[in-house]
Amino acid sequence: MSSKKNIVLVGFMGTGKTACGRLLAERLGYRLREMDAIIEERAGKKISAIFAEDGEPAFRAMERELVRELAGEEGQVIAAGGGIVLQPENIRDFERNGVVVCLRATPEEILDRVRADQHRPLLEEGEKAQRIRELLEQRKPLYDAVPHQVDTTGHTPEQVADAVLETYRSATR
Ligand code: S3P
Repeated sequence: MSSKKNIVLVGFMGTGKTACGRLLAERLGYRLREMDAIIEERAGKKISAIFAEDGEPAFRAMERELVRELAGEEGQVIAAGGGIVLQPENIRDFERNGVVVCLRATPEEILDRVRADQHRPLLEEGEKAQRIRELLEQRKPLYDAVPHQVDTTGHTPEQVADAVLETYRSATR
């Protein structure tokens, strides 16, 4: 196996994928690919505008296309959007050339981390705490199915990055 397999961070909104991804990319000298940011740049608008103007299915199609593209490159730390698991073929594609790690956190900690944010369209409908619990519940089997898991609750981004790196190293040894 190539020693430059990708590290792919998946997990619910607010589990720290981007913060952890930045640290890992720095440490390994890999390229950081933040999927939401790439999609926004290419679409020329924010994720919230894509959801509002084009609809969620259009956004999922953009994610799917980007997964296919990124899965063909190596030496990347990929921070995926929280809904990447909704299309299981995304995880399968990433696994061919990468170690896919799911970051987890309790609903309370997720709420603390996203409380002030307004850029996540799926958390803007209804009461935030309730929405988080509902979505986590719906998606639980999909997150559970990801091969590697790292709990981030009560941990700093550095500690999370250490744990992910250890997972990555033992998976690519
Ligand atoms: C989503 C998560 C978001 C973003 C979009 C949809 C989801 O990414 O892709 O708002 O379905 O969970 P983050 O997990 O980076 O917030």
